[in-house]
Amino acid sequence: MSITTTGDWEGLARAAREQETVRRQPAGAAATVLGDFTERLEAMIAATPEEEVAAPISERPRRSWYAIHAAHGWPDRYTGDLDDPHGGEWRAAYAVLSPVIERGGIGLLHGKRGAGKTRMAAEIARSGRFPRDRTAGVKLTGGPIEKTRTAVYRTAMSFFLDVRATYKKDSPVSERDVIEDLKRPGLLVIDELQERGETAFENRLLTHLIDARYGAMRPTIIIANLTAKELGETLGPSIVDRVFEDGKRIDFTWESYRRAGR
Ligand SMILES: Nc1ncnc2c1ncn2[C@@H]1O[C@H](COP(=O)(O)OP(=O)(O)OP(=O)(O)O)[C@@H](O)[C@H]1O
Ligand SMILES: [Mg+2]
Repeated sequence: MSITTTGDWEGLARAAREQETVRRQPAGAAATVLGDFTERLEAMIAATPEEEVAAPISERPRRSWYAIHAAHGWPDRYTGDLDDPHGGEWRAAYAVLSPVIERGGIGLLHGKRGAGKTRMAAEIARSGRFPRDRTAGVKLTGGPIEKTRTAVYRTAMSFFLDVRATYKKDSPVSERDVIEDLKRPGLLVIDELQERGETAFENRLLTHLIDARYGAMRPTIIIANLTAKELGETLGPSIVDRVFEDGKRIDFTWESYRRAGR
C-alpha cells in the first residue's frame, strides 16, 4: 500500500482516523474490516483527482484552518502562509499522529534536526483537529461551555524560566498558576525537551503537567532532539507508559528540509 507519495494528505489523516476506529474493534472483526479499509484507502488514493492532490494547503478554504499566534508562544516561522508540506514520510507520519491528538493522546516527535518536527506540531495546530479548551469553572457557575480551541507552544526552557520567575519575592503568579494555565488549552506543544531544568523539581513539574493533561484527555505534543532511549530516561516511566497506552512516538529519520529542499 502506498500512502506515502500520492493522495491528499488531509484525506489520509481522515483515513487514519477510520483505521483507529477499526483498531478498537474485537480482533476477528478488526482483521476483516482492516482488509476492507486497506482496499478502500487504495481506492480512495487511486480515485483522487490530480488537481486535488496538487492543491496546496494555502489555496484551500482558510476557514477550515485555525490560526496560530505568537501570543500563544508560536514562533513566527510557523504562523504565516506556508507552502503545502511535502515528503512522503512526513505526510504519512502526520496521518498517523493527527487522530492520536484528536482523541487527546500524547505525541512524541523526536530525531533529526530540520526533519519537520516543529512544523508537524504547527500543522496539527493549524488543522484545528484537537479537543476544546478546558472549561473553567462551569460546574461551579453553570456558565456556558467553553467553545474555544487554543494551541499553545512552549519550549521546555521557556517553561522552566516561567516557573523560575514565580520564585521572585514579588511575583504576582505562583508555579501553580503556570501549571494551571498550561492545563487549560486544547493542545499544548512542548518543544526542545532536550533542554532540562536546573533542578529535579522543575523536571518533575513538567512531567506532572503532561500527566495532568493526559488525565484530562487534552493532548500534548512533545518534541526533542533525543534518541528513543534518551527520551525514555528524560520523560520517565509514567509518561512512556501513557504513550504506549494512547499515544504515538515518531522518529524523524529522514533528511533535513533545511538542506535538502524537498
Ligand atoms: N513537510 C515539509 N514540507 C516542506 N517544508 C517543511 C516540511 N517540514 C518542515 N519544513 C520546513 O523545514 C524547516 C525545518 O523544519 P522544522 O523547524 O519543523 O524542523 P525540526 O525538526 O523542528 O528541526 P529542529 O530539531 O532543528 O528544531 C522549516 O522551515 C519548515 O517549515
Ligand atoms: Mg524544531
